[in-house]
Amino acid sequence: MAHAIATFIGAMLMTTMSMTTATQLNDVERNEPRIANLLEQMTLVEKVGQMSQANASDGYPPDYLGNGLRAGRIGSVLNVVDVDVVNELQRIAVEESRLGIPLLVGRDVIHGFKTIMPIPLGQAAAWNPDLVREGARVAALEAATAGVNWTFAPMIDITRDPRWGRVAESPGEDPYLASVLAAAMVEGFQGDDLSARGTIAACAKHFAGYGAVESGRDYATTNIPENELRNVHLRPFKTAVDAGITTLMTSFSDLNGVPATGNEFLLREVLREEWGFGGFVVSDYNSVQQLAIHGLTENDRDSAYEAVTAGLDMEMAGDAYSNHLIGLVEEDRISIETIDAAVANILRVKFRLGLFENPYTDSAELPPTGSDTALQAAKKAALQSVVLLKNDHRALPLSAERLSSIAVIGPLADAPYEQMGTWTFDGDPGMSVTGLQGIRDFVGHDVEIRYVRAMENSRSWSTEAFDEAIAATRASDLAVLFLGEESILSGEAHSRADINLPGAQAKLVRRIREIGKPVIAVIMAGRPLTLTNIVDEVDAILFAWHPGTMGGPAIADLLFGIESPSGKLPVTFPRMVGQIPIYYNHKNTGKPPSPDTIVHIDDIDTHAPQTSFGMTAFHLDAGYTPLFAFGHGLSYAEFDYQNIKADAREIGLAIR
Ligand code: NOJ
Repeated sequence: MAHAIATFIGAMLMTTMSMTTATQLNDVERNEPRIANLLEQMTLVEKVGQMSQANASDGYPPDYLGNGLRAGRIGSVLNVVDVDVVNELQRIAVEESRLGIPLLVGRDVIHGFKTIMPIPLGQAAAWNPDLVREGARVAALEAATAGVNWTFAPMIDITRDPRWGRVAESPGEDPYLASVLAAAMVEGFQGDDLSARGTIAACAKHFAGYGAVESGRDYATTNIPENELRNVHLRPFKTAVDAGITTLMTSFSDLNGVPATGNEFLLREVLREEWGFGGFVVSDYNSVQQLAIHGLTENDRDSAYEAVTAGLDMEMAGDAYSNHLIGLVEEDRISIETIDAAVANILRVKFRLGLFENPYTDSAELPPTGSDTALQAAKKAALQSVVLLKNDHRALPLSAERLSSIAVIGPLADAPYEQMGTWTFDGDPGMSVTGLQGIRDFVGHDVEIRYVRAMENSRSWSTEAFDEAIAATRASDLAVLFLGEESILSGEAHSRADINLPGAQAKLVRRIREIGKPVIAVIMAGRPLTLTNIVDEVDAILFAWHPGTMGGPAIADLLFGIESPSGKLPVTFPRMVGQIPIYYNHKNTGKPPSPDTIVHIDDIDTHAPQTSFGMTAFHLDAGYTPLFAFGHGLSYAEFDYQNIKADAREIGLAIR
């Protein structure tokens, strides 16, 4: 047995060698013997317990959860954020279960906990890893006050489809930018020392290919050739693994015919064998049981078999593992070594988090949520994420001194909840400062503000309040329209087929335009929108994504030129949905289009020979360029690039 343990420790030392920092090496030396020691003592029930995560909102101690914890049948919970409840759950696990193994407490802390940063897609527009790292750090500190020790972030799915609701959570379309930001988020959440107070385990999701769901329909199938999978979709995950991420979550979707949760190629071949990942992999919510719905398996028992065989260590929320793994081992369909390896992966993260030393949370030892530091970080992030899409005749910045009144119009001008965006379970809308408030605070009493909401929400079709908005604009020097999407229009299961401004917003823009006053659009949305039908009707567009808690003051600073916009698009904005997928780093084709090879459908001369145009890759009704390209973003300054030099003729593809 001693030899077996030594071999096991040796093997673990090898698999965790990819976690290369000094602290991590010390962790390996210190923790692997402890893991082996625990495994020696654990019953099969206790082992499977570590592999099972329960949704704490399904029941609170002392009943369902309490008894499960006492019996060692639950290794992790999600969705509990009351620190007293978390401490009580930890107490039961540590003091009343046989082996006293503490709990992982998971939560979706995606772009903030109480203080909300811009949606991740917005943060990506800042192209600033320091900012993203700081945002994750703030989120970790705040979440830790509630006893959360594991976030289901970063979401690093590359997507080229703005119809997909989860584009809001993604770093965009570029594998390199996504990789840099992935590493920054891992560093922000996990810090240098995962056992330090206020750092939490991170989880790179959704492994892998989720961003390629067909037509942007959430959960749909994905078919991704291996070259594209490796060059595009897997790259941010590899970077996250190299940055020391502790956990990964599988995708709900299938990949080339095999659901990600039961995908051995992804979970064993790529993640473990090629990348040497030493942490653990959790399923998505109930995605083990969904293997049967996908058609991969017949029932939960087979689903548990497929998932664990593929290399899935922990099941989130379902009960396929807890109901069937023991039987599968007893039947010899699954080896105890397979189970032990999964349990070791999970215990490794618990040890690295320092939970065995201190499982409890004393919120008083952490900064309070919504601290000045957190709010300043949120404002900085909002400032840097806003993209100035257009600015005709220098309509912006506004000069408060030269204005006597502004009409502030639109369903998102004063919408504290909506500006937080998707995935803000714990965000506090009471802390949000809206665009209307930001403008009012900025101009004080010197400029009159006429506010008209004009639409009940972003999807309304009623034009009843338009007259009031028109009257306010007529009486003012200019109109600032706050348009876009409510938060519920993006995020999980909130895909759209039409990505124009919803409801009667375009009509509102046209009606306001007719008055002849300058029109500034501030657009808050969870995705790129097709703005073709309004782009010529406004003088300037500030695209603010869902900017989070401090969106209002940031937008006011940008409108009035206290700061110059600096955001650049991390995704391409199509002219129309039919162009999707449209992204900057597409391959050339053998027939690349150029301005002189294209023609618009309305300009086709039926009498001219057909070869006078075409034979290249473009749409007759949309050309080949997007409305706003990846990287686009204006500022108030003018830049002149000169003498640009590259230090190499070719740039290698390798990223760290
Ligand atoms: C489903 C989502 O796909 C995933 O991103 C999230 O972390 C889990 N549910 C837990 O809420």
